[in-house]
Amino acid sequence: MKKINQLETYSYSPYSDHSGDWCVVEGKSGLWYPGVRVENISFPLTITPLHGAICSCLANGDQPVSFYAETDTNELHPYWISEYNLQERKAVPETLDLFHPILENGQQKSLQLSEALIPKAVTPHSDFPVAAFLYTDDGVVTGVNVEVSSWSLGLCAERLAIFRAVSAGIQSFNKLEVYAPKGDFSSPCGACRQVLMEWMPGKTVELHHGDLTVSTHKTEHLLPFAFSSSQLKNEH
Ligand code: THU
Repeated sequence: MKKINQLETYSYSPYSDHSGDWCVVEGKSGLWYPGVRVENISFPLTITPLHGAICSCLANGDQPVSFYAETDTNELHPYWISEYNLQERKAVPETLDLFHPILENGQQKSLQLSEALIPKAVTPHSDFPVAAFLYTDDGVVTGVNVEVSSWSLGLCAERLAIFRAVSAGIQSFNKLEVYAPKGDFSSPCGACRQVLMEWMPGKTVELHHGDLTVSTHKTEHLLPFAFSSSQLKNEH
């Protein structure tokens, strides 16, 4: 993560006017988790800054305590505030320690790393942990699945990894690895497949299965006829 004043330039908002939306969420640990708006051509799959930043915080074994947001819409803010008893700040602290999502030992084989990552999954409802490693031009970004009281606001491991990367100013992704140790056959859900098509068409997804076998797929093979339309880009 570079500078906080760059956050407003990181949001991915090709379908709306909400291009400068960002926030930071303070964790109990003292780390601050950045979030930007990450839209999807299937609009309901869009992740808003506070939503993603809170999930990023929880996925780091941390607890959200306060936030500062610069957003056009305060989508779902009342839900997050009451759910985590968050304090809403009126200004960003002068200095803050921003969470940086790049794995330091990213060259190491991910199977071992996934063993360390899996316990970070927040799965009070499913007890079904998933870990994702997103290979970007800047290094490897991790994600685990995070479940919250409202099931539909949880984030899959794959989508959290993409959200974290975009919120760190990274938009070029080369490969995704998925580990679901309790799954017989690890496989991204339909919603994640649509998001993968938005971010990494033509790229590789490596699925690590419960029996330690691995299968390799191209994103368009995982989602043939993905939703797309040339009508939806915001031409402002
Ligand atoms: N899940 C993922 O994180 N990735 C997938 O590819 C499939 C499903 C999560 C979402 C939820 O937390 C749990 O698995 C059960 O659906």
